[in-house]
Amino acid sequence: MGLLKSLFTNCANPQGRMGRAMLRFMNCCHAPLTNWGLDLINFQDGWTMLDIGCGGGATIKRLLKRSKGAHVYGIDISEESVAKARKVNAAVLDKQVYVCQGSAEKLPYEDEKFDLVTAVETVYFWPNLPSCLKEVYRVMKPGAKFAIMVESVEDDSVWTKVVDGMTVYTPEQLKKMLDDAGFVNTEIHQKRPSYATFLGVKPS
Ligand SMILES: C[S@@+](CC[C@H](N)C(=O)[O-])C[C@H]1O[C@@H](n2cnc3c(N)ncnc32)[C@H](O)[C@@H]1O
Repeated sequence: MGLLKSLFTNCANPQGRMGRAMLRFMNCCHAPLTNWGLDLINFQDGWTMLDIGCGGGATIKRLLKRSKGAHVYGIDISEESVAKARKVNAAVLDKQVYVCQGSAEKLPYEDEKFDLVTAVETVYFWPNLPSCLKEVYRVMKPGAKFAIMVESVEDDSVWTKVVDGMTVYTPEQLKKMLDDAGFVNTEIHQKRPSYATFLGVKPS
């Protein structure tokens, strides 16, 4: 249990050798959830996008493929995640992809910058989620979309027991928090085994 716990706690803030292993693993194993969630979005060329909790940078790469000429920003609290995301996107780094270390609590971007913001398998770890959602809202353009993708949406004690600092929200809780932060047209999409995507729009 000790080894398993320290391995999975690296989901919350990847560090060191185990963190690097976890980032490689997540870049692959989150592909089905992420691609399914991104299929729900009507992408347009030239978008400016942000992936929060970008981990090893695979979602940044996937976003770039879906919008020709896009600019994609990534942010993560973990130094290890930032290093891996930069490496995975090295060919376009600082030209079309920009990755920095920071938290969803205080995003280092101006108001109304992004056409799309994504958060894949990460909101479980954000402190004070309602306040983070307001921060996401602030950096979105009017009419922009926010997509939260998660694999756990019920009381998932299997995970919360092994991952320190993880909170699993129910669909109702997440929807209410999105509504309270000002998002409209909130949609909840669910797919077996336990995938969920929440879409919210900043009103125009
Ligand atoms: C389970 S991993 C998912 C990584 C990536 N999104 C993926 O799908 O592979 C969660 C990521 O969220 C990051 N994270 C945790 N809390 C954060 C916060 N407050 N702000 C930004 N990133 C955070 C972690 O460092 C970690 O890289």
